[in-house]
Amino acid sequence: MGPIGVFDSGYGGLTILRELVNKLPAYDYLYLGDNARAPYGNRSFETVYRYTLQCVKWLLEKDCPLIILACNTASAKALRSIQQQDLASLNPTARVLGVLRPTTEVIGNYSTTGSIGILATSGTVQSGSYLLEIEKFFPELNVAQEACPMWVPLVENGEHLGDGADYFIKKHIDNLLQQHTQIDTLLLACTHYPLLKDKIRQFLPDSVNLVSQGEIVAESLQEYLGRHPEMESSLSKNGKQRFYTTDSTQDFDAKAVSFFGSAITSKHVDLQ
Ligand code: DGL
Repeated sequence: MGPIGVFDSGYGGLTILRELVNKLPAYDYLYLGDNARAPYGNRSFETVYRYTLQCVKWLLEKDCPLIILACNTASAKALRSIQQQDLASLNPTARVLGVLRPTTEVIGNYSTTGSIGILATSGTVQSGSYLLEIEKFFPELNVAQEACPMWVPLVENGEHLGDGADYFIKKHIDNLLQQHTQIDTLLLACTHYPLLKDKIRQFLPDSVNLVSQGEIVAESLQEYLGRHPEMESSLSKNGKQRFYTTDSTQDFDAKAVSFFGSAITSKHVDLQ
């Protein structure tokens, strides 16, 4: 028996964990933020894979039977290799899931015009993973993508609510909306972006839906556990959450509250 491991490059995964705890409060969760090496968004495939694998191994050593990569960049660039090459030798009964698949399964349902826009890190956009996955579930959907390389650094540095953020928010929203005139739904395909929601709204027509992933991922996890009773019964259920960061715990605790919604106390782990 063990907790559900939740991983992100930094704080963003806390926006997912928050919804997991809301929907499935009975389970134990172990969060790992690789803040010392964030952001991942502009790093190569090899680097994102190496860092993510290291974090997954650590969560497996902490007895997590199930791990969620609550990071689109890691889900797009490392998940498949970990699932197909590494997991069988690391722990054949453990499972590692991402946030991309559950999102692509439902995203087309939010649009009435049949055109959506995706805002994500450069790594997620360049991987092409959203386009490939959406094609499987919604082959008719028009999908425009826009990489927003400055958004995670703005959020990680607490500059996302200031006037300085406006330039970068408007620039990418305008670029995206220009790609298809019919876009009626924007997906925040980076777990850091929910903190920018109010700012993004300011530069969007009211008619455009803004979709973030937390609730989608929580709903999908609930269904997954319903379909996999063997996994469900291997999860401990004391309603506890523990938090680890690879960087300063002081910084993590101070910033985490705006992502998670309530105060937390983290511990440090050195992965290098
Ligand atoms: N929060 C992560 C995501 O969903 C990535 C942020 C980063 O490290 O660039 O893509």
